[in-house]
Amino acid sequence: MSAQIIDGKKIAEEIKGEVKNQAKKLRETKGIIPGLAFILVGENPASQVYVRSKGKACDEMGFYTVTERRSSDISEKELLGMIDEFNRDTKIHGILVQMPLPKHMSEEKVIEAIDPKKDVDGFHPINVGKLVIGEEALRPCTPAGVQELLLRSGNDPAGKHVVIVGRSNIVGKPVANILLQKQAGANAVVTVAHTGAKNLVPFTKAADILIAAIGKAEIVRGEMLKKGVVVIDVGINRIDDSSAKNGYRLVGDVHFESAAKVAKAITPVPGGVGPMTIAMLMKNTLKAAMA
Ligand code: GUN
Repeated sequence: MSAQIIDGKKIAEEIKGEVKNQAKKLRETKGIIPGLAFILVGENPASQVYVRSKGKACDEMGFYTVTERRSSDISEKELLGMIDEFNRDTKIHGILVQMPLPKHMSEEKVIEAIDPKKDVDGFHPINVGKLVIGEEALRPCTPAGVQELLLRSGNDPAGKHVVIVGRSNIVGKPVANILLQKQAGANAVVTVAHTGAKNLVPFTKAADILIAAIGKAEIVRGEMLKKGVVVIDVGINRIDDSSAKNGYRLVGDVHFESAAKVAKAITPVPGGVGPMTIAMLMKNTLKAAMA
């Protein structure tokens, strides 16, 4: 049996195409141009890359963007002041403060300063709470992207046993909360496994759909999975590879070759969940502009 490879790049392009069309309609009928403000503090190289890619996607969508870059020694007060200005700016519908922040700042305090209606990351406790009780709200991008990947690849989670490995606030917990809702595109039976388990195998073996969000390279192997499982790999890890030009390559939390032998469908890394995060950010920004 050869597994279906779920093409996240293609699905992300499909979603961005839809967002672009809807944004055009919004501009023509209501004169509204979705606006997204980026705040980038410090020199973290990964953060610089992420903000650049997100900005580029906004340009493709025809969105208005503002990017504020500050050195890591700015005060928390100054950052909160910038957020406050964007909260009141009617041209801005979404505010994205790229994480991580320098150690002298409280990420919680910064997230809570963002107007929940402009919280396109879906990190604000108001939006987290609404997600948990199944209310309409801005949902976190990577978890919402996992759901879209399942649906658009023909793997509806309804009635399936979804096992999530990992309980982070940005992936594991929100994915669990999205997929267990009694709603179309969800309605799964959800198990969340994590480092507190003595042995992961009884959990991974029981999955119809396995979502790996652990942050460790290739720790889920085919031998740990049930035949016919659908595998969504959220991990992005660098491992040394002397044959690669830059000395490393990217792998997921799942050992792809062994898992692909037993899976019905599987996402690759890169090119699986990764591109979906930006596509869902575009969708959230449009949604915030339409609200
Ligand atoms: N840092 C890593 N991932 C994310 C994300 O999804 N949003 C923000 N704001 N920062 C991040």
